[in-house]
Order: sequence, then C-alpha cells, then structure tokens
Amino acid sequence: MKAIAVVPGVAGSRLVERPEPSLTAPDQVKLKVLRVGICGTDREEVAGGRALLPQGQKDLVIGHEMLGQVVETGSAVTRAKAGDLAVFTVRRGCGECASCAMHRADMCETGQYKERGIWGLDGYQAEFVLDTEAHLVPVPPQLAGVGVLIEPLTIVEKAIFEALRWQQLRRPDAAVAPDWIVGRRCLVAGLGPVGLLAALVLRLRGAEVFGLDIADPASPRPQWLASLGGHYVDGRTIASGQLGQAAGGMDLIVEAAGIPSLEFNLFDAMAFNGVYVLTGIPGGDRPLPVDAGRIVRHLVLHNLAMLGSVNAARGHFQMAVDDLLAAHLRWPGKANELITHHHPLAQFQQPLAQISPGAIKEVIEWQ
Ligand code: BGC
Repeated sequence: MKAIAVVPGVAGSRLVERPEPSLTAPDQVKLKVLRVGICGTDREEVAGGRALLPQGQKDLVIGHEMLGQVVETGSAVTRAKAGDLAVFTVRRGCGECASCAMHRADMCETGQYKERGIWGLDGYQAEFVLDTEAHLVPVPPQLAGVGVLIEPLTIVEKAIFEALRWQQLRRPDAAVAPDWIVGRRCLVAGLGPVGLLAALVLRLRGAEVFGLDIADPASPRPQWLASLGGHYVDGRTIASGQLGQAAGGMDLIVEAAGIPSLEFNLFDAMAFNGVYVLTGIPGGDRPLPVDAGRIVRHLVLHNLAMLGSVNAARGHFQMAVDDLLAAHLRWPGKANELITHHHPLAQFQQPLAQISPGAIKEVIEWQ
C-alpha cells in the first residue's frame, strides 16, 4: 500500500510502499484511511525538524489527524464494526509509569512515549492503518465531514479542561459559581485551526471570546470567529505590551500560535487570578530576550497560573466528538468551513511543505 513518509532530519516528503497491515490479535481494528489533516507538526517534520524514526526503519510515515472507516475487527472488539467511522489516538505509553498504565500516555512521566506519525511509530498518511481497540474512538456518521478535526480539537479540549480545573481548585469564586467560565473574558492567541477550535469550545461553554491574530479583519479566520459571536483583536494595530489596555483583562488565555515573542507579551493582558495555557510548540532554538522581571512580577502580584499542555487522552477525544456534535446543532456547517483545502493524494507534497494561500485546515484525501 501507499504511504507518505519522511526521513527525520532531512527536508522533503515522499510516497513509499508499506505492506498492508493485517490483524494479528483479537483486540485489533483495521481502518481504511479516508482523509488526514496537515498541521504545523507535519510541516516541521517535512522541513527536517522534530521527528523520530521507528526502530529498525529507514523512514517514518507521517500523519496523526486522521479519519478512517473500519474494514475489519478482531473477535474481541466490541465498540466498532465494519463500515463505522473512527479515529485512532496519537500517543502510545512507555509501559513503565503510572500515567501510561492508566491510559494517560498524554501525561507520561518518563518521556519514553511514542507518537504515531511523529515520534517513533508510523502514522496515518497511508491507505490502511491498524491498532488496538483501546486507541480507537468511534465517530458518529453526522461528523463524517469534520471528523478529521477531532485530533486538533482534542489538543484544546485537554488544555481548556486543565485550565478550568485549575481555576476551580484555586479560585474562591469558582466555589460560588461552578460554571465559572460562563461570561468570562477569554483570549485565544493565534487563529489557526487550533485557535479557532479553542474559540469554538469556549463559545460552547458560554465564555466571551476574543481572538488575536495579525490577519485582515475581513479575511476568513477573523470572520469565522465573528460568526460564532467572538471578537477579533487585530494584533497589527496594538503596540507590544498594550494588549490589556486595548482589549481589557483576560481571565483565561489559550495560546495557539507557537511564537515565543508573542507568548511572553500576553502576560500584560491577564486579569487578576487568571490562567494562561500554552499549546503551541515553537520550532527551532532562536534565543529571545525577555523582560523576565516584569513577567515574574505579573505572575506573582496577580496570582497568575501558567501551564503547558500537549497531546490528549481518549477521554479528550470523546469530548471533541461531543463538542463537534454540539457545534453541528448550534452552528450547522460552521466547523466544515474550517476545512478549506482537500488535496488529492497525487498533490501531497506542496501542502506538506507550505500552507496554501487562504487555507485554514488542509487535508489529504485518501479515497
Ligand atoms: C499533536 C500532538 C502531539 C504533539 C507533540 C501535535 O501536533 O497534535 O498529538 O503530542 O504534536 O508531538
């Protein structure tokens, strides 16, 4: 079968041949891949950046944002049957720590985890993929058009859940109003697919959402945010360190830009006792001068909480499915608008190397 692979550390992607996987255990599920999304991590791998070769292999099949259709199930599989839509999660545990033993490889304690399509295991840019039912998430048929957004959505599901959990534990007012997030001022920094999906989740939870980017306000991403009732903040018109004055204090910031110079400027925009969760993974190692004293002063004097969040567990995948269903009812067709480019397999190289003009989410079609 065909698959798209990279050689870690070497720029470029190529089509390779892999043996079609077949079931070898009763708890396995084989999926026919329908489509696979492309994100910054894939583009970094294709540029020769962060990626790990599977042991004993010469190349790594990329792709982790997938939607597939079940073609075969082992005799012990109970949650899926041939014809169902489904996705596989990304991370596989180290087999040593308590988190991984509890199916929470997203919180692996040893760092010896693997990730399909990224770190030591072949991914989903292939005709067929196989894994165990433990890593399978069924997708209802209503989500056929947007199922490929589930994985990027899990990133914000986990990040927002953790930030809110933290606030519930430490803020006295959260005990008075358990739905603390309702009406809260939340900033999403970076309106790529992850940022826009964060805006969607926060709007579903009842928050007042502001989205920061440097795009023209009339362009599709700010317009999409506005159609959900969010407010666009044009970063081009705001001087560094003035965001708080321009937009007001934020109770929650979700960072989805992966731009360190921006990340350290957002502290000025936080309200007292706010929480700031980072999800972007900056590439490269460019040193950055920051006013560390000012940042620490803000953190301490304002009781700020800052956390990083990566990957997602199966529970977050289920939250993503549920929120896409809720979004489908509340804003029919809106999530579909995020998938702007469907590329045929024959044209995989260009979108993996560079974002297409005007694109939000680009996918490779395997059908
Ligand atoms: C993926 C995550 C993964 C992370 C780090 C992201 O692009 O969505 O699943 O854990 O990269 O490799």
